Amino acid sequence: MIVAIDGPSAAGKGTLARRLAQALGFHHLDTGMIYRAVGARLLADGADPAEPERAAAAARALEASDLERDGLRSEPVGRAASIVAANPEVRAALVEFQRRFARRAPGAILDGRDIGTVICPDAALKLYVTARPEIRARRRFDELQARRESATYAAVFQDLQERDARDQARGTAPAKPAGDAIILDTSDLTSDQVFAHALDLVRGRRG
Ligand code: DC
Repeated sequence: MIVAIDGPSAAGKGTLARRLAQALGFHHLDTGMIYRAVGARLLADGADPAEPERAAAAARALEASDLERDGLRSEPVGRAASIVAANPEVRAALVEFQRRFARRAPGAILDGRDIGTVICPDAALKLYVTARPEIRARRRFDELQARRESATYAAVFQDLQERDARDQARGTAPAKPAGDAIILDTSDLTSDQVFAHALDLVRGRRG
């Protein structure tokens, strides 16, 4: 069984995907980490993530160990990830790895931006997890503070808006809900409520 969870940054999809995978005994892939790993590799080499050929080469050369790099969750790496993710050759180089992962038994949960639309259009359940921008910025800001990374709320909010705009406007696999996705707005829900609701939906689809 494949569960696709898409949505913008800091909407709660990662937490939800991890909890569901644990409850169901499914494999989980946070696909944002793949784009982050490509971005991090370029930054480490002093390359510009916006340079199409360098970015595509980095995506093709990506190894599993790149996903273990330190600092993948930092803001500069997130920005680089959003830039490389707009590159069609980068996306093409990463499709097969994600599809192979999705076929793992007894089931897989992939979270990202284009799982329900491009990577796994036949997923048994598609969720689009979202929340109001101010709430997502607050969650991201609190996360950064907990990790003692310096940031202001205003800068986090602006960065999130820019990233959403870039992810939604790109020509290849723009971030958007699949036509058959169930929209889950987590703005006014606790993570326990989101989890309970999503688990019911998975169980419903499993019969
Ligand atoms: O979810 P995240 O913040 O870790 O994702 C980092 C960037 O990667 C984000 O700007 C969008 C991009 N991304 C994507 O284009 N497609 C995916 N399936 C996952 C992430």
